[in-house]
Amino acid sequence: MEDIRARGLVLLGCGKMGSAMLAGWIAKGLPATSVWILDPFPSDWLKSLGVHLNEDLPANPAIVIVAVKPQMMDEALPILIPHGNGETLFLSVVAGRPIKSFEAALGANTPVIRSVPNTPAAISHGITAIFGNDHTSQAQMQQAETLLSAVGQVVRLDNEGQLDAVTAVSGSGPAYVFHLIETLAAAGEAQGLPADLAMQLAKATVGGAGHLAEMADEDPTQLRINVTSPAGTTAAALAVLMDPETGFPPLLLRAVKAATERSRELAK
Ligand SMILES: NC(=O)c1ccc[n+]([C@@H]2O[C@H](COP(=O)([O-])OP(=O)(O)OC[C@H]3O[C@@H](n4cnc5c(N)ncnc54)[C@H](OP(=O)(O)O)[C@@H]3O)[C@@H](O)[C@H]2O)c1
Repeated sequence: MEDIRARGLVLLGCGKMGSAMLAGWIAKGLPATSVWILDPFPSDWLKSLGVHLNEDLPANPAIVIVAVKPQMMDEALPILIPHGNGETLFLSVVAGRPIKSFEAALGANTPVIRSVPNTPAAISHGITAIFGNDHTSQAQMQQAETLLSAVGQVVRLDNEGQLDAVTAVSGSGPAYVFHLIETLAAAGEAQGLPADLAMQLAKATVGGAGHLAEMADEDPTQLRINVTSPAGTTAAALAVLMDPETGFPPLLLRAVKAATERSRELAK
């Protein structure tokens, strides 16, 4: 963080993801005076922080984080071309934009790290996967990891191609879990529960089980076995959910495959 403090951090696009990360960095002690934000319509929260807002950028910032929507990239990135091909690290959270598109826009020798975060970052429970190009030093990988760990866990990948499957599992994954909550609540309602109560039960169950799966020494398979008595209620439901033809296994296989393939298509 010392290098970032001294040379500065630039955030291009400060919407939902940018704001979640910025809140994490400030909470971890990054001074607002070391932060330069480029965003056409800054929020009141952003204006209150004391960061440099839409001002001239430092000459040699330590890191630029790109957090605009994919469709805004081509319009937003050119302002940063003077910082390409140098010592400034570019860290992208932009979905579906391969490293080579940054190298093409900023210069082939630009250090670029591509990452896939997810929305629980907003409450510091995200997980972000990162992959850096050959121009990225170990110190820069560490710098990116330190920054992103302000909003959750960080994992490093062996190759950029894995980012498509990561997008399909953890990037898009929160939406699958939200849909699980919706459908679990609706199923409770169908069995006679009031809607509010069914939703409260579904949210707390998914949240609690997720937390337990992360905290427990036992793996999820053992945790499932622990709550399944032979011929009991859980076993009755799991017979439906674990059906090899119609249950979760083939369903999630198809869903994650569809998302992975879509991620590959978008990168073209
Ligand atoms: N949200 C997620 O779950 C998630 C997860 C993984 C990755 N990502 C990636 O994170 C990126 C940002 O997503 P988001 O959900 O945070 O989107 P967002 O809320 O729309 O934020 C994008 C921000 O960029 C600003 N912007 C637009 N044009 C700009 C320009 N030319 N220069 C500087 N800033 C500009 C937007 O301003 P205006 O609103 O005024 O246009 C907005 O504040 C995307 O590339 C997305 O793929 C998001």
